[in-house]
Amino acid sequence: MLNSKKKLHEITYGFQFRNAVKKLPLGQIKYHFRNYKKYFNENLSKVNEKYFLETGAGSGIHTAILSFLVGKRNIIHSMDLLESNIKKINKFKKIYKLKNVSAYQHNFLNKIKTNIIYDFACCHNWVQHTALPEKCLKNIFDKIKIGGKFYISTYHENFFRFTIAFIARQIIKSNKRKMINYLIKNKNLIFKRDLSYYNNRNDIHFENLIDDFSTPYMFLTNYNRLKKFIEEHGFKSLTKNPKIDKIKFRDNHHLKMGFVKIKNKRKKNIKKCFVDIDNNYPIMKSNGSFKEINNLTQLLRKNLNKKSYDDCSKFLLKLYLLRAKMNKSKSQNKIINIINFLKEEIIKSK
Ligand SMILES: C[S@@+](CC[C@H](N)C(=O)[O-])C[C@H]1O[C@@H](n2cnc3c(N)ncnc32)[C@H](O)[C@@H]1O
Repeated sequence: MLNSKKKLHEITYGFQFRNAVKKLPLGQIKYHFRNYKKYFNENLSKVNEKYFLETGAGSGIHTAILSFLVGKRNIIHSMDLLESNIKKINKFKKIYKLKNVSAYQHNFLNKIKTNIIYDFACCHNWVQHTALPEKCLKNIFDKIKIGGKFYISTYHENFFRFTIAFIARQIIKSNKRKMINYLIKNKNLIFKRDLSYYNNRNDIHFENLIDDFSTPYMFLTNYNRLKKFIEEHGFKSLTKNPKIDKIKFRDNHHLKMGFVKIKNKRKKNIKKCFVDIDNNYPIMKSNGSFKEINNLTQLLRKNLNKKSYDDCSKFLLKLYLLRAKMNKSKSQNKIINIINFLKEEIIKSK
């Protein structure tokens, strides 16, 4: 991985996880207990002598919760790219005396070095932030035993969250550290209320703005492509996919699936199942409205290129505020609103 990209991971996640290591709320613990049980389709509080792999573990919140759930009779290996995150996972270990957890610094673009074949592997909201998500998945699949289970949560394309992220990522300036400093500086100027006012604590918060706008990579997929990809690597689906058509105008939807491995497949050619939001996001070329959003974004990009970091940060904050205000709407109105907003900003930026 390029050093500059690793540095950018460090900047984004250093900020996102700056206060992450603390006693976890009971509600969050219970939510993830249910999540693990649902997507592994198994009562994990009853399993014994199993090996768990927590990938892209971040600050270790999910590792800690998994450890509470499976207890000391099982072993958890928790891995992440960044040394700063490994330190945080080790702090969680200390706070909660998690004797069954070992934390390792690892880049999943490379093969996993432990000589364990795992019974359960988790991939929670991170693989979309790597240069090659499919390669990372393949390296994880190779370390799951037959009969072993795999849970993934990732980003589903075409939701409003990603229209906003697409625009922001086209506009944001190249010095991300400087950009983040300006976003922090101007936050209260644009957000007259705390973002918790918008009543969607999972999706609408300042850390999410920083993550979506500045993370080095953002890849998106959908149920059909991801399911096909995972099944082609020897897995069978354990969970049902929701009907996306019914929820397509929502702000966001977390794509989550569970699988069981039924055979080992050593595939040489790795097919693509993710799209790169920054380079070829198909919806932006598809129909009238999205094409218009793309054209307006490119115009605005030209104008804001000439403006200061201060001006650019104010635009990005207003863009996120629009998402926050519209986040409960389930209608196409948000597309009309974003087009009007971009038109106004183009006039202001001239
Ligand atoms: C959005 S955070 C998610 C963290 C955690 N899974 C969670 O849901 O809170 C993305 C994480 O992926 C890690 N990451 C990104 N690329 C990686 C790679 N190639 N190998 C290992 N970890 C990686 C980052 O260091 C970061 O901790």
